[in-house]
Amino acid sequence: MPKIDVLILGSGIAGLSYALKVGERFPDKTIAVLTKAAEGESNTKYAQGGIATVTDTIADSYEKHIADTLAAGDGLCNPAIVQMVVEEGPKRLNELINWGINFDKSDLGEFDLGLEGGHSEHRILHFKDITGYEIERKLIRKIKQHKNIALLTEHFAVDLITQHHLKLPFTKQGVTCFGAYVYNQQTKEIVTYTAKVTLLATGGVGQVYRNTTNPLIATGDGIAMAYRAKAQISNMEFIQFHPTALAYQFSHGRSFLISEAVRGLGAVLKNEKGDAFMKNYDPRGDLASRDIVSRAIDNELKISGSDALYLDCTTISKKDFQYHFPNIYAQCKEIGLDVSKQMIPITPAAHYLCGGIDVDIHGCTSIKNLYACGECANTGLHGANRLASNSLLEALVFAHQSFLHTLEHITQADDPDEIPEWNSKDTFETRERILITHNRKELQSVMSDYVGIIRTNERLNRAAKRISVLYEETETLYRKSKLSTSLFELRNLISTAYLIVEQSKNRSQNKGGYYNSDLS
Ligand code: FAD
Ligand code: SIN
Repeated sequence: MPKIDVLILGSGIAGLSYALKVGERFPDKTIAVLTKAAEGESNTKYAQGGIATVTDTIADSYEKHIADTLAAGDGLCNPAIVQMVVEEGPKRLNELINWGINFDKSDLGEFDLGLEGGHSEHRILHFKDITGYEIERKLIRKIKQHKNIALLTEHFAVDLITQHHLKLPFTKQGVTCFGAYVYNQQTKEIVTYTAKVTLLATGGVGQVYRNTTNPLIATGDGIAMAYRAKAQISNMEFIQFHPTALAYQFSHGRSFLISEAVRGLGAVLKNEKGDAFMKNYDPRGDLASRDIVSRAIDNELKISGSDALYLDCTTISKKDFQYHFPNIYAQCKEIGLDVSKQMIPITPAAHYLCGGIDVDIHGCTSIKNLYACGECANTGLHGANRLASNSLLEALVFAHQSFLHTLEHITQADDPDEIPEWNSKDTFETRERILITHNRKELQSVMSDYVGIIRTNERLNRAAKRISVLYEETETLYRKSKLSTSLFELRNLISTAYLIVEQSKNRSQNKGGYYNSDLS
């Protein structure tokens, strides 16, 4: 049973930046970063547009970034958190730069700031259109320089180890976390990791939908684990759909994103008749906030009955496009599209979870010694709809907040009573994997057809019924089957879908990314 000081679940920007800080500050403490996949696989790796931060203090200001974030969040952001995150941004950005991460600059040596929907100024720092890849690989390189940080791949966290307080004095948090049960995908055994503090940095939930920009790892594991441990979870109904995913089915399980920064450089959305339509929906046109653009596209798709609309980039010179978006250019070319001559077929895709595990300003969840940050956390920054490129920023700032709190509290962390071993049962190998794969696909269809951009009461009720059948079937299978990653993920996807549907049903007013046509 490995006994460590700090257990970090997830190796995206949130987990890695927290690990680096704790590792640098406490060279004598043992830290493990666990990931269920290969070391860099994460939502972070695919981030394109960049990080929103105020660096141009002449045209831009904290006040403007705060106002844009609050407007996108449609009245549901926590203003104190918005202010804190925006004002911390430049400091956290400098840390990234000091860790060796590059951002594009102009010939004059100033940051080349991009523009995205909902932003009143150019303020997105980026590295070409592969900002996330640059961040992820440099953070991993840096982590490997620390002898006290172990980065373990193919380690799937299955459940948190928690104890419920029966003795006085009761704390505000009635449950304490002491680590996690982890499935070693190589040895096929469950290992009990006990830790003084645990950080959930397990990322998003996009795979709950059929069409998503998120890679296969985004199965809501951290949220489902936290839910089983009875942590507070909110705002799950606010799923952000990105307006422009490439309408092309790749075999890697995710839709390729066409960054909003392409519209920032002048690309225009057009319907199947070739008409630009966004000004009919919002005076900001193609750069309205994401919820508005995705709903407009959904409406145009329904009117035309077609499967995709178009992004017209032909007014951007080929040289400019290739310079700013080499990755997008290459992907389009691979499927035979010349973006300087042909319009890109696009469709909205599930992209980001605005809610998640509730945390306070220090990154603390409702469970003692359990932090959460990054996409799995609900910090209050995004409210009902995240402003573009505020996610990497939030992950960095809250990794720092959690680090500061860890600094103060790690020495006082309680020791657990005896930790129970993982409950291994008599099980058999699931001979029919179709029982798992079918249910995953069925869940994705239910969520895409009934719990998408536009919802109705009837569709939500139908989704709830179907999910409860999938839940019963999957739990029965889980109880009698041997350990398997696909089954763990299916359970977690079902819990995540359940939370999205239930919290959608509880919402009585349309806000930001949540739209139920029975409420309008
Ligand atoms: P992730 O980076 O997703 O990392 C999660 C980690 O947890 C992974 O290592 C995963 O393997 C691990 N994990 C999950 N479950 C388990 C488990 N059970 N056991 C062990 N490990 C587990 N945001 C921006 O601000 N700007 C952008 O330009 C931008 N572009 C984007 C483009 C795309 C295509 C996508 C998908 C997202 C984009 N986002 C962007 C959103 C942003 O990238 C993510 O919200 C952010 O990177 C999340 O970071 P994270 O560390 O919380 O999670
Ligand atoms: C994009 O580049 O359009 C994605 C940015 C984001 O999700 O914040």
